[in-house]
Amino acid sequence: MTESNNKDIFSEDQVKPFQPPEDFKASAQVKDDGLYKKAEKDKLAFWADMAENLDWTKKWDQVLDDSNPPYFKWFVNGKINVSANCIDRHIENGLGDKKAIVFEGEQGDTASLTYSELLKEVNKFSNVLRELGVSSGDTVTLWMPMIPEAVVAMLACTRVGAVHSVVFGGFSPDSLKDRILDSKSKVLITADGANRKGKVLPMIGAAAEALEDCPSIEKVIIVERSGADYDPIEGRDLRWEDLMKDAEEDFSPVEMDAEDPLFILYSSGTTGKPKGILHTTGGYLVGVNTTHRYVFDHRDDDIFWCTADIGWITGHSYIVYGPLSNGSTVFMYEGTPDYPKRDRFWELVEKYKITVFYTAPTAIRSFMRWGNHFPEGRDLSSLRLLGSVGEPINPEAWLWYHEHIGKGKCPIVDTWWQTETGMIMITPLPGVTPLKPGSATKPFPGIDAEVVDDQGEPSKPGQRGFLVVKSPWPAMLRTLYEDPDRYENTYWKQYPGLYFTGDGAWKDEQGYFWIMGRVDDVLNVSGHRIGTMEVESALVDHRDVAEAAVIGKVHEVKGHAITAFVTLKEGVEGSEELVKELKAHVGKKIGAIARPEEVFFTYELPKTRSGKIMRRLLRDIAEQRDLGDVTTLMDPDVVASIKEEYKGS
Ligand code: PRX
Repeated sequence: MTESNNKDIFSEDQVKPFQPPEDFKASAQVKDDGLYKKAEKDKLAFWADMAENLDWTKKWDQVLDDSNPPYFKWFVNGKINVSANCIDRHIENGLGDKKAIVFEGEQGDTASLTYSELLKEVNKFSNVLRELGVSSGDTVTLWMPMIPEAVVAMLACTRVGAVHSVVFGGFSPDSLKDRILDSKSKVLITADGANRKGKVLPMIGAAAEALEDCPSIEKVIIVERSGADYDPIEGRDLRWEDLMKDAEEDFSPVEMDAEDPLFILYSSGTTGKPKGILHTTGGYLVGVNTTHRYVFDHRDDDIFWCTADIGWITGHSYIVYGPLSNGSTVFMYEGTPDYPKRDRFWELVEKYKITVFYTAPTAIRSFMRWGNHFPEGRDLSSLRLLGSVGEPINPEAWLWYHEHIGKGKCPIVDTWWQTETGMIMITPLPGVTPLKPGSATKPFPGIDAEVVDDQGEPSKPGQRGFLVVKSPWPAMLRTLYEDPDRYENTYWKQYPGLYFTGDGAWKDEQGYFWIMGRVDDVLNVSGHRIGTMEVESALVDHRDVAEAAVIGKVHEVKGHAITAFVTLKEGVEGSEELVKELKAHVGKKIGAIARPEEVFFTYELPKTRSGKIMRRLLRDIAEQRDLGDVTTLMDPDVVASIKEEYKGS
């Protein structure tokens, strides 16, 4: 089992839970355990009730069809359009002049869109897509910076019934290519380049070669954001601005079935090939709408800032679909927390009077390291609620966040969930749940999470086991795009009838969940999921590499740092130059987030007799732990020599 960075997990008797502050509780969406009770009494009735918060053009016949597990259907025969729920209905309810998106660029440029303005933009872009021949069921890929056009494009896809596949802007052109090929996208929406710490990173220009190998792409729409040079290809490349100039401002949302695909989002798994996680329309929207309302205690005057990139599930669910379906005002920022200065986020909190702030533990640990004077120099008094997501938060970081950002008065919602779950699954409800630093606390109402042992039986309090979900939930993934076998094998074979999350966890006497991190070969680097096999495949793709094994070494800020052990081909000598080259090669194949922090050359890798690389041993070497049992190794001497080489490095 992978150790998490949460080494200093408090045992429950060491923790004094933080009670919800009285004034917070007084005006909270949820003030008592009524919601839990309701869901416990009848889960399906609870979810049906939640679905009533959305506008359906035709009501469902059945809440859940579980007759063909693990292929579940929610809100069967219900008809709905996601963009209509995120925009039109708020305007009908008199919120047309309310800000939907407030944006600031890295250079300090600003923009905002009211709900009425958002509707106009989304309608225009829906017409653009339709003119280009995009219709129900077609896939559109987005590879974009964090700019409002990305949200407009996503919502327009849902309006015309197209399936979007958003690829994180930091992924390399090669990764983009793989995802386009897998999803067979007809249209790519991208930008000339992205602003990054005062520099311009070219996008379309850099992807030119990769796109030559993407025959499905008929049109590329380019937002001119950064002024980066590119050579437009006649007949294929179109400027966003040109297309929008003449587009019609009316567009009737296409009625979608609750189970029509909404989006594909690629995520790393235990093989070299990312998984195309498929989410559908009705259940997903019910899930994110409900969790955004209750977990973030939605209030009409909130300025909600989720710092994730739109290219991850957190951006999909809690920048776009959750908050906009609740009529919230979403703040969106293009840049990083440390540019031009390390107080950039706090400057923005002060300027925009952010009320709810949702970020990742890796960022919190960086803030801690940079020093308290950065947040202290800014007025953070608008904040009323904080959130954390992406990895276990160590109690030290939790306490710092609570004291230095929340000033002791903001509850922290530590939210556990996954790309696959679509919505937050284990989380406090900030007006009712006493908080224990480092614990994501309890399952959201209507969610049946459990910790089980090897046999699939519930673990005893304090006993480490595996996190599973025992019954379907509305925003669950429906399958892996065109790969049902992998869907079944990855999630449903470990414990028949239970959804396997891939995480280790334990529960304390009060039923609080403590998540320990992945138990499979998936790393969590700065809150991002990266498969060890993906990085290994990228390494062996280099001409000098014979074999590679990649592990995550516990890292103070990032959670895990990628460490690679590499065997070179006959006659190739390891060198500093080659280390640099290999790191750059992985960056090129996958993206900067997957670049190994360390690369070690070794003449052989430790393997079991059946030839499986023993990553556990490599982890122990990298973290300088006792090696434990090495008797099943093919050649136990290999470990000693790797250890020597590692020490000498
Ligand atoms: O290991 C868990 C960790 O992130 C994984 C999911 O990664 P991804 O699909 O990229 O989605 C991240 C954002 C939802 C999980 O399997 N994880 C996520 N949130 C937490 C967490 N681990 C502990 N505590 C959390 N709050």
